[in-house]
Parts: sequence; structure tokens; C-alpha cells
Amino acid sequence: MRTFLIAGNWKMHQNIAETKAYFNEFTKLVKKAPEGVNILLCPVYTSLHAAAEATAKVDGLHIGAQNLHFEDKGAFTGEITAEMIKETGADHVIIGHSERRQYYNETDETVNKKTHKAIQAGLTPVVCVGELLEERKADRHFEVVKKQVVEGLKGVSKGDATKLVVAYEPVWAIGTGETASPDQAQEIHAFIRKELSSLYDEGTAAKIQILYGGSMNPGNAEELLSMEDVDGGLIGGASLKPDSFSEIVHFAGKIYSS
Ligand code: 13P
Repeated sequence: MRTFLIAGNWKMHQNIAETKAYFNEFTKLVKKAPEGVNILLCPVYTSLHAAAEATAKVDGLHIGAQNLHFEDKGAFTGEITAEMIKETGADHVIIGHSERRQYYNETDETVNKKTHKAIQAGLTPVVCVGELLEERKADRHFEVVKKQVVEGLKGVSKGDATKLVVAYEPVWAIGTGETASPDQAQEIHAFIRKELSSLYDEGTAAKIQILYGGSMNPGNAEELLSMEDVDGGLIGGASLKPDSFSEIVHFAGKIYSS
């Protein structure tokens, strides 16, 4: 059985003090990740170190950054390297989030370079894909997501493919309160898994975790996480509160052990 990854993307929220307060609370609610579940939280860069301190307290808790640069150093004002992220104690990194594609000119090509860099540095990349509302309405979502997967993972070997995570986040469901139905999520997750099988092979595709993101919350998480090809969540708003995030973590544990 596949294991779950329950991930929180804090976006541009929670300073250092708020991060410490969050983990004070969270470590009371989750003393260790349930069997079959890993937990990931991705704060802003300045809070990474404070967040990483909590990993010593909770077994199965990981910390990740929300972006990285694909070069090792240089004149790239405002950017950060994979090694700098690792130095904070983080071991994951979100790549190609739709907000970065939308506002910061992230392309499949930069996503691909960043994915290679993360793997090379020993960070687990969480590669985000997902269609816009107009693409879904025009029934182009399969085509759009396929291109993002194929181009984003170009040149990643079969051995390295199992070191990455894919997150499907339909842009129309992010922060809107609108969620893909469990059937819609399952349909496209199965499609992504099929694409991964043709890029690699079935065994490799089965090992790659595919997360769902887009208005996941304690009210809909159990149903979404119960779908066969949904291996976890990438959660924005509901990850900002320790109680709602921990509730989702516990649902995953319950599904794994049922
Ligand atoms: P929301 O859960 O707030 O919709 O955000 C999803 C997301 O973008 C996670 O990366």
C-alpha cells in the first residue's frame, strides 16, 4: 500500500514567532506521524530554521522550502540555492507552484531545471502541475497536465523519479473554496500515474506519491484521501491552523490503517 504525504504550503504567511507558536501547538496535537504518513510543512525562507527545529520533536515531520534557484551561486538577487535550503534543516522543496507560474514567470523549463537541482542536492522536489479554469472548461486539462509532467520531469532517470513527489493542483480550486470532486481528483491522478508509467514503468509510477491540492480541508480531506491514486494533500489555507492540519494528518493515518 502507498504511504501518504500530508503537506502544508504556508505561502507568504507566518513569521518566525508565529512559526514557533504553531509548532508548540502542533507538537501537542501530533506527537508522531501516524503509521504510513509523513508530514511536511513549507514555511517562508526566514521561518525554515525555526520550523526545522520541530522535526526533532515529531517523528515523520519534514520541512520544505517553497522555491529554489537552479544555480549553485551567483548574481541572482533575491534567490536561494538548494544547499542554503538544506542548511536550514529542510529536506523538501515545492517547485512550480501555480502562483509562481502565474506571477514569477515559472515555466516548464525552469521547473525542470529546479527539479534536477533539488534531486542532485538531496532535496525531495514536490513538482506542482494543474490546469487553469479555462483549460478545464475547454476540456484541455489532460493535455495541459501531461505537458507539465513530461516537460517538468524531462531527463529525470527512473531511479531519481522515485525521489520526487507530484502535486496536482487545479488552479481553479486554489484558495477558492471550490474543490475538485473526489472522482475528478481520482480521474486525473490516475491519468498522471499512467503518464508516469509510460515515462518510466508501472512499478516506478506506483512508488511516486501524487498529492492533491486545492481547498483541501478537514471537511473534504477524508473523501479525497480515500481515492486510490490520491497519496496525500498539498494544503494551503487549512495548513495554517494546527488543529485543522493535524485533523487531516489523522484522517490519512486512519485511511492507511483501515
Ligand atoms: P488552498 O488549500 O488554500 O486552496 O491552497 C492550495 C495550495 O495552493 C497549496 O499549495
